[in-house]
Amino acid sequence: MNLTTRYLGLELANPIIASSSPLTRTVESLQQLEAAGAAAVVLPSLFEEQIEHEAMAAHEAMIYGSEISAESVGGYFPQMDAYNTGATDYLDKLRAARQALTIPVIASLNGDSAGGWTLYARIIEDAGADALELNIYRVAGEIDYPGAHIEEDYLRLVTRVREAVSIPLAVKVGPYFSSMANMAKKLVDAGADGLVLFNRFYQPDILLDTLTVEPNVVLSTSSELRLVLRWMAILHGRIDASLGATTGVHTAEDVLKLVLAGADTTMMASALLKNGPGHISVVLEGVGNWLDERGYESLDQARGSLSQQSSPNPSAFERSNYMHALIDYSSKH
Ligand SMILES: Cc1cc2nc3c(=O)[nH]c(=O)nc-3n(C[C@H](O)[C@H](O)[C@H](O)COP(=O)(O)O)c2cc1C
Repeated sequence: MNLTTRYLGLELANPIIASSSPLTRTVESLQQLEAAGAAAVVLPSLFEEQIEHEAMAAHEAMIYGSEISAESVGGYFPQMDAYNTGATDYLDKLRAARQALTIPVIASLNGDSAGGWTLYARIIEDAGADALELNIYRVAGEIDYPGAHIEEDYLRLVTRVREAVSIPLAVKVGPYFSSMANMAKKLVDAGADGLVLFNRFYQPDILLDTLTVEPNVVLSTSSELRLVLRWMAILHGRIDASLGATTGVHTAEDVLKLVLAGADTTMMASALLKNGPGHISVVLEGVGNWLDERGYESLDQARGSLSQQSSPNPSAFERSNYMHALIDYSSKH
């Protein structure tokens, strides 16, 4: 089965990308992902706070002629280096990954302001990344800061990074915009070659035993796929950019649904952390078999056939189907 797809102008052997996670951290696990069939990998993010910390530390060292301690700069977590090796070494990791793999290596930057740290995008390009994913992670908790300003901040950041690089740029965002479709278009107008939908914000929990707030990561399940599915279907064919899906992609069925809705690629993190890199080959086999059994000749043939524009039931993705869903539920219970 021909599973090839185009994403950010890159030719990929299939739609499955190993999403940014601890599994894309070492050359060894990256090679395992490639061997299992990953069509591309996204490295763990390098964070705005890490870049700014290193820049500030260098500056202070120059002024005072001495090293400053990592903890002396606010907002920096020295333990983060165990996750992604820190700003300086990130480039070594990136070069090593590029050298060890034949599939595209996508680097990742994570931040929310259009500050000087964005120049790191150029450095990442120079280090050999095939593309850059910009993860804009912002919890809009400022009570006096209007949504329109937040959107402007997003667009300013995308414009800034776009100006810094000539490699393809994907922008990974969450779903929490008043007009997701309009925001998607604006992100593309600002220079995104692709959108990755959707960033999964960690949700803090309160532990009743200790009366503490836990910022822990809980892995996803397939039930989280539906939000992504809706927006893939609505955006397919309407914006001039690649569409990558993340959050809730666990099975061959999940991949197929997203491709039918219009996704160019489907990204996995939780499923691979739970099942190991070999899970990719199981999913790929399932995708190929399903397409084969239904007489498709390629993945491309299936893509978008159930997007909102192509669906025989376009309202299924919108308000009127809410009423149908309620009627259907009531008639069965
Ligand atoms: C432990 C862990 C670490 C992650 N680290 C990053 C990261 O550094 N940068 C990023 O953009 N996304 C990161 N993610 C998010 C994933 O790339 C992915 O978008 C998200 O988990 C939703 O996909 P999933 O349902 O397949 O897990 C991380 C996810 C997990 C579980």
